[in-house]
Amino acid sequence: MTQKPQAKFLKDYQPPSHQVDHIDLNFDLSPKKTVVTAKYQLTANDHQTSVELDGVDLKLISLKVNGQAHNEYEVTDTKLIIANLPSKFELEVGTEIAPELNTSLEGLYLSDGAYCTQCEAEGFRKITYFFDRPDVLATYAVTVIGDSSFPYLLSNGNKVDEGTLENGKHFVKWEDPFKKPSYLFALVAGEFDLLVDSFKTKSGRDVKLQIFVDKGNLSKAPHAMESLKKSMKWDEERFDLEYDLDIYMIVAVDFFNMGAMENKGLNVFNSACVLANQETATDRDYHVIESIVGHEYFHNWTGNRVTCRDWFQLSLKEGLTVFRDQEFSSDLGSRALNRIDAVNAMRTHQFAEDAGPMAHPIRPEKVIEMNNFYTVTVYNKGAEVIRMMHTLLGESGFQQGMKLYFERHDGQAVTCDDFVNSMADATGTDLSQFKLWYSQFGTPKLKVRTQYNENQCQYQVEIEQVHAEQDPIQSPLHIPVAIELLDGEGGKIDIEHPEVRQGRVIELKEEIQTFTFSDISEEPTLVLLEDFSAPCILEYDYSTTQLCHIAMFATSDYARWEALQQLYTQQIREYVADQKHEFVLSQELSAVLLSLFDNKPKDLAILAEYITIPNFDTLSAGYAQVPVEALCKAIDELESQIAQLLQGVLKAFYNETQESGSLSATDVAVRALKNRSLYYLSLTGEDVMASLNAQASSANMTNKLGALRSAVNAEHRLADELMDNFDKQWNHDLLVMDKWFALQATKKADACIDNILSLYEHPCFDKSNPNRVRALVGTFARTNPKQFHREDGAGYKLLADLICELNQLNPQNASRIITPLLSFKRFDEKRQGLMKAQLERLSSIENLSDDLFEKIDKALN
Ligand code: TRP
Ligand code: ZN
Repeated sequence: MTQKPQAKFLKDYQPPSHQVDHIDLNFDLSPKKTVVTAKYQLTANDHQTSVELDGVDLKLISLKVNGQAHNEYEVTDTKLIIANLPSKFELEVGTEIAPELNTSLEGLYLSDGAYCTQCEAEGFRKITYFFDRPDVLATYAVTVIGDSSFPYLLSNGNKVDEGTLENGKHFVKWEDPFKKPSYLFALVAGEFDLLVDSFKTKSGRDVKLQIFVDKGNLSKAPHAMESLKKSMKWDEERFDLEYDLDIYMIVAVDFFNMGAMENKGLNVFNSACVLANQETATDRDYHVIESIVGHEYFHNWTGNRVTCRDWFQLSLKEGLTVFRDQEFSSDLGSRALNRIDAVNAMRTHQFAEDAGPMAHPIRPEKVIEMNNFYTVTVYNKGAEVIRMMHTLLGESGFQQGMKLYFERHDGQAVTCDDFVNSMADATGTDLSQFKLWYSQFGTPKLKVRTQYNENQCQYQVEIEQVHAEQDPIQSPLHIPVAIELLDGEGGKIDIEHPEVRQGRVIELKEEIQTFTFSDISEEPTLVLLEDFSAPCILEYDYSTTQLCHIAMFATSDYARWEALQQLYTQQIREYVADQKHEFVLSQELSAVLLSLFDNKPKDLAILAEYITIPNFDTLSAGYAQVPVEALCKAIDELESQIAQLLQGVLKAFYNETQESGSLSATDVAVRALKNRSLYYLSLTGEDVMASLNAQASSANMTNKLGALRSAVNAEHRLADELMDNFDKQWNHDLLVMDKWFALQATKKADACIDNILSLYEHPCFDKSNPNRVRALVGTFARTNPKQFHREDGAGYKLLADLICELNQLNPQNASRIITPLLSFKRFDEKRQGLMKAQLERLSSIENLSDDLFEKIDKALN
């Protein structure tokens, strides 16, 4: 009988039983039998005479207490329990592990022949017996012994010794002077090409920078190196934070469950988040790599120097670090584009999570498998919560809060409350109500009503906050709402009101609040929730005219984009509600869209965003029951109407605008708008053969992929030929092939599913590689609603079949791709039945992992 996995609760937190200040680790590496010896002093915090250490899939081979054999212990599936101990003692524990057999990509495993580790969140327990919890902080000294065919033996901190041993082996010893929790431990051993550079910190220290990549990939490492130097500089300038060790290493590996990992001084990256050159990487890839390199670097202070007390506090480091990487990207590039990206991520993924069975606060209260909580809620909503504090306190108040946070907590493992208290105390702001954002879940709605009184020249804005039904916390939140008032000519009306901060932010603290603005001489147009100042859904009965007015005149690019998104949404909703009528693009919207091209914004990438409509997931959030067919049809109709309307201007732009293939912001923007143009032109009767062919044979990956995407989306007769050519040209480069797999997954015709099944046999495909699985099957389930939600259930079956296979192979990855099946309650009865049947089938498989159990159980019960 297998036991039902047990949940842990935030409310049950207990401090650790013992303190460990230092640990010595010794690794004798071998694929089938790596011997790990750990030696550390334990000091009981409360006179305990026994100790429980975490350990999973370990073979215990030796155990000594104060240098003597000790027989009073018990080994379970997850623990080593030692009894009859003094209150202070040295433990030496030897274990054996088999990295070669470890397909979970957690603990110590082999990635294409190189040893590497992934310890967050609870992977260190697969390496040795220890307190695998973030509030036990120790310094580490690590000796790695390996074969000479593994020239690089790496771990955290500084190299202090190395030498050769007998049998063709050698060793390297590392010491990390900074105390860290076990999840930040890392070890890498292998043969790599190495890119070296250096950075001088503002206090004048030289830091050695090293990027390790697979042999032959050196020419794809410079962009990551430039990104690292930019990150180091930016953190000094904006946050006054300097790097602390003398060396910073990044290793790129092909088998990795997530994007990257911030291990102290030794980041391990998914190779997809490091490698780039113009032939293989798109402009988007370049951007993503820069932001992830930044993200991991910024963790050095927000995560490593100050870490989490327990895993329920994950957003302490992730929300804050995502906020920091977003600011980094915005300071270096376009703030508006980065904001649009962040808001799209919230609306596409986070709102859906918040409305589904896995809904949780940014600080979860109950967890079975921690790996399930590296979510868009903890990361992205977490970053929005930090951003709201930034909005309330302003940049200088926020920086005062950060300074106090580090003064108080450097070297400690702390809680989200500690962070908010630093912000509050440093600025003398009452943030007690604001803290509810950490325990609330579900997306709050803001219902807005306005009234203009002509005689008194007064404008009234009434805002009611409504909380999700399933959210136990129904008391009002503290919400910053940024607003703007526009007059009839499109001019900005200055708001004078005692409760308005920085000329634009009103603070909601009550369930219903009314703000009255005086001296308003005409009925204004209200821009609400400017810059997405809070992660809420706005309900305000905008007229098309008002939205068009905002799209034309709002001060910020973001607000204009948002108005256009609302206009597209209105059009879609009207059509879905009444499909008997033909789809007609409103005259007013048409005029606005055409005017965008008469008077193009300076940043053409923004223009490309203006003419991009919301995706299926974002649109489906507006329905209690998602009307799959109608919504797909409406999206197609709207895109084809926009294509027809803009055909002339897009064609002119496409033909008349050149770019040189460089990575300058201007060229990147031109490529973005040209690709958007080709996408639309392919949907019209226009002859795009020559353009598709030309772009598809371009040496620039952004252009090449743009052509393929347009052809596949439009089901153009060239599509198959272009796809085949791409396969022939690139099947030697698996990261490039992921782009091709992803495109295969978006095909609209019914053959899509059989095609995916046959691609499992493609020489480049590999179910044990998370990048491949996500490219092909992840993309399918997330972005191809027509085929995934097919009425014969073939889409659901495809996903469930693969999850069955991955359950044992890689539970984390299996659990990540199941998301689209969980929200079955949002669909019609027939689809619900089919989706549920697949979940029930999965719930009964043998050895169901905790990861899958937790999600399926929540969805079904
Ligand atoms: N801390 C990492 C980050 O956000 C996330 C991460 C990397 C991770 N690898 C993981 C989380 C494996 C869970 C499991 O930068
Ligand atoms: Zn992170």
